[in-house]
Amino acid sequence: MRASLVLITIISVVRGTTRVRDTLAGDVKLYPPNGEYNVNPDVHLRLTFPSPPSIGTSGKINVYNSKDMKLVDTLDLSIPSSPSLYGNGSVEADDADKTKYQTNIIGGLDFYFYPIIVRDNTSTIYLHNNKLTYGHTYLVEIEPGVIKLAGGSFNGFTRDQPWKFTTKRHGPKDGIRKVMVAADGSGHFNTIQGAIDWAPANPRELTSIKIRDGYYEEIIFCQYKSHLFIHGESGGIVTVGYPNNAAFNPPNRQGPPRSAVFSFRGCSDLEISRFTINNYLPGQAEALIVNGERIILDWMRINGGVNAFTTYGTVYVHNSNITGKGDTVLGYGSVYWQHTRIESTGAVTWTRTPQGIHGHIFVNCFLIGLEGNSTLARLPENPEEGEDNWPYAEMILIDTRTSGITPEGWGPVQGPPFDSSQVRFWEYNTMDLQGQPINTSRRLNVSRQLRLPKDHKYLVEYRDPAKVLGGWNPIVIYP
Ligand SMILES: *[C@@H]1O[C@H](CO)[C@@H](O)[C@H](O)[C@H]1NC(C)=O
Ligand SMILES: *[C@@H]1O[C@H](CO)[C@@H](O)[C@H](O)[C@H]1NC(C)=O
Ligand SMILES: *[C@@H]1O[C@H](CO)[C@@H](O)[C@H](O)[C@H]1NC(C)=O
Ligand SMILES: *[C@@H]1O[C@H](CO)[C@@H](O)[C@H](O)[C@H]1NC(C)=O
Ligand SMILES: *[C@@H]1O[C@H](CO)[C@@H](O)[C@H](O)[C@H]1NC(C)=O
Ligand SMILES: *[C@@H]1O[C@H](CO)[C@@H](O)[C@H](O)[C@H]1NC(C)=O
Repeated sequence: MRASLVLITIISVVRGTTRVRDTLAGDVKLYPPNGEYNVNPDVHLRLTFPSPPSIGTSGKINVYNSKDMKLVDTLDLSIPSSPSLYGNGSVEADDADKTKYQTNIIGGLDFYFYPIIVRDNTSTIYLHNNKLTYGHTYLVEIEPGVIKLAGGSFNGFTRDQPWKFTTKRHGPKDGIRKVMVAADGSGHFNTIQGAIDWAPANPRELTSIKIRDGYYEEIIFCQYKSHLFIHGESGGIVTVGYPNNAAFNPPNRQGPPRSAVFSFRGCSDLEISRFTINNYLPGQAEALIVNGERIILDWMRINGGVNAFTTYGTVYVHNSNITGKGDTVLGYGSVYWQHTRIESTGAVTWTRTPQGIHGHIFVNCFLIGLEGNSTLARLPENPEEGEDNWPYAEMILIDTRTSGITPEGWGPVQGPPFDSSQVRFWEYNTMDLQGQPINTSRRLNVSRQLRLPKDHKYLVEYRDPAKVLGGWNPIVIYP
């Protein structure tokens, strides 16, 4: 084919940009620029074309170490990403399926992933994490077929005419406690995962990871790290996103869920603040899972599908906005919510409080049903999980504004019949968006309205985060 004869010539190398002329593609912009030095080893490789590229189903991307021409990483485009490429298949792992899928080890856990993602005219290549290291020159070969353009295949880079860059000599100096992540390469890391992989597991002092304004398309998995403060440079401009869900990444037989964009597992004394997390797939598609003690969310925007935000442990959520598509908060943890807005199709929460701890306490929050028929929490029949139907579920609303919530407010609370006498679906002073009291006369009879003076002691307890969160008094850190 004609495209296979195409030669590429580098026509300009200026620091910060390189253009490659491809007779089929025209000018192609490369990041990192061809010949660049001081590249972070967690770099994602970007090619920007004059028109939108598409991804092929054959060919390889090979990365060699220039010193000995040893192959350090390969992405083989003939391997499918997942049993459910569009996230619309089964959410059960099929043990009989022996197909090999694109797999990346992220923070120690295996995930299916897309080796290339195209957004507008840019294709971003995701090498396997942690294959590149400091102090090496790498040569990238992109075989024909990997990237397609109208009229043929991008004739890429060959072993003899590769895309070349050199990584930084060293990572952050010992003793550094504050690092910067920047997608444009101006920080210590290009990716949030790169900074998390670097962060010490259990330091005495706080490790601060600042994310420079930009877009970060990556799955992030952080386990067994503590004393972390991860924050956007300025509110609202830092966005983390990925198309993930429980069909694209079905759960392993054992182990944590893999369907979220950002997960913390066994991470304590953590604050995340000032950035957005988006999960682009429908279905069970968590934007954020937190699991650990003393976790703070401040000024966050969390947008996902079903179970958009899943909680275990002790969590304080402050000044944040969450949107989701049913059971938007899946809550196993003790969570104190303040000045936070949740917008949900379907139930706002599925509150699964275990016995002996507090559940969800909302104070001065906004809970919005997007289709006019949401409930605040439900306890549906769930025989598959073979569990008792969460008879200690607790969700308390204090001075909270609502709209789009049914007059029943709560439920369904379904059998097999269980003793719901310990369920606490309680409210005090629930208002509409204008601050007028809600008519609660038709509330589900499992729920109850708190009243003064009778319920004074409960109100005092629930207004105190430390009482709700097992003695922890959360203090928000501001950048
Ligand atoms: C992207 O491709 C479109 C369609 O070919 C083109 O109009 C546009 O200028 C391109 N954008 C960039 C930034 O190259
Ligand atoms: C999933 O979506 C793809 C693309 O839209 C479609 O071709 C396929 O049939 C769908 N699969 C299922 C199981 O719905
Ligand atoms: C949350 O939404 C409210 C209302 O739209 C807005 O005023 C507030 O700034 C938002 N907060 C964040 C963190 O996006
Ligand atoms: C809620 O309303 C939406 C939109 O009208 C509808 O599609 C959905 O089935 C309703 N859900 C319930 C539980 O009634
Ligand atoms: C509340 O709703 C009930 C039944 O829907 C109605 O009888 C009652 O008058 C309402 N109360 C107020 C204060 O509007
Ligand atoms: C609550 O309502 C259900 C049906 O709506 C009824 O079966 C049940 O007996 C009621 N429970 C109490 C404690 O009133």
